[in-house]
Amino acid sequence: MRILASLSLAALAVASLTAGAQTPAAPKPSAAAQTAAKAKPAAPKAALALTPPMGWNSWNFFAERVTDKDIRAAADLLVSTGMKDAGYNYVNIDDTWEAERDSTGLLHTNAKFPDMKALADYVHSKGLKIGIYSGPGTKTCGGFAASLGHEEQDAKMYAAWGIDYLKYDLCSFIPDVMQKQAPNDKAAQMRLMIAAYDKMGKALKSTGRPIVYSLCQYGWDAPWEWAPALGGNLWRTTGDIDPTWDRMYAIVSQQAGLEKYAGPGRWNDPDMLEVGNGKLTLGENRAHFSYWAMLAAPLLAGNDLTAMKPEVKAILTNRDVIAIDQDKLGKQGSRTYVEGEVEVWTRHLSGGALAVAVINVGSDRQATHPFHLNLAKLGLHGAQKGKDLWTGKDIELTENMPIELDSHDVLLVRIGEPK
Ligand code: GLA
Repeated sequence: MRILASLSLAALAVASLTAGAQTPAAPKPSAAAQTAAKAKPAAPKAALALTPPMGWNSWNFFAERVTDKDIRAAADLLVSTGMKDAGYNYVNIDDTWEAERDSTGLLHTNAKFPDMKALADYVHSKGLKIGIYSGPGTKTCGGFAASLGHEEQDAKMYAAWGIDYLKYDLCSFIPDVMQKQAPNDKAAQMRLMIAAYDKMGKALKSTGRPIVYSLCQYGWDAPWEWAPALGGNLWRTTGDIDPTWDRMYAIVSQQAGLEKYAGPGRWNDPDMLEVGNGKLTLGENRAHFSYWAMLAAPLLAGNDLTAMKPEVKAILTNRDVIAIDQDKLGKQGSRTYVEGEVEVWTRHLSGGALAVAVINVGSDRQATHPFHLNLAKLGLHGAQKGKDLWTGKDIELTENMPIELDSHDVLLVRIGEPK
């Protein structure tokens, strides 16, 4: 099938996929346009994910229970809660929307998602974008039909529906292909995995529709080294998150050294947010969100928006913290020094600004034995004027200043003009 030139052609293509008809030819460029194209190299296609993607994903709260109704409600709530205005613009359907393929190979949706095109139209009508989920194996992690052998067909279908984002999850490709074709050769297994991600990357590209490509293969074989070359905009760096401090922090501990791989269009993904889920305390939710901001991580909320507490909304919509995450320089922060159970992270921001996060990953540090900040270790000289992003107040950081922190809480400061 031809490369689809526009969404309306893409919509026609869906009909042709089902009816086996030909897609109408795209109009030929005029002679003048052809000459101009020869004279000047074509402008690069609008780059995707120039800042880490923001939005909401169904998995962390709804898991396999998610329905069309939940996705519509999430879209409505992103708008009514102000999350959309704060930057959350992708509504991503995770696993369990899939039914079976018909005799033409076309994958159908299951009863929970009666009409994916109508759902995409609804999400778009709210000024939002929509994401979907599949994988390179025969089955998704939830045991639903995945894309093996149907990569182009599926990519065209996504484009025809108006999908803007694909999360592609390794899962059954491991036993289906990697272990079957290269049972005793791990390196060969990894090459098969990379080829599978490349295949879908090409299939997405050939649709002509800008679709953010999210690799979900748990950080196997250092995706940060190869994913950008095959069109990946983000790649998971670890196994799955869950809504506990220990798991969230274990993931954070595996991000060191990956800073240099992140940048506009290409992001390390420590997994979706658990802010507001499980039994995370408010301090833990703040620390989790601060870490993701310092890591230039995708901010995909994963909580139940229908029952979001005001204090959780306040965390997720803190514009100052979001601005750290979304800083246009796209330079991921790093853990600058550790003293016992207190970590100090810094992130360089556009315009020469600096974000400093002090996180207590252990037990309380109160007035009896507060933590003392060492500015020199951050390359700073003397007192620094900044803003405490969680209180919203001005703050002055001074050499050796005592900082009281509850267990698992954070001080996050933006210094506009570091000295
Ligand atoms: C894997 C992924 C999760 C989620 C589930 C869905 O575990 O890592 O993020 O997509 O599959 O089945």
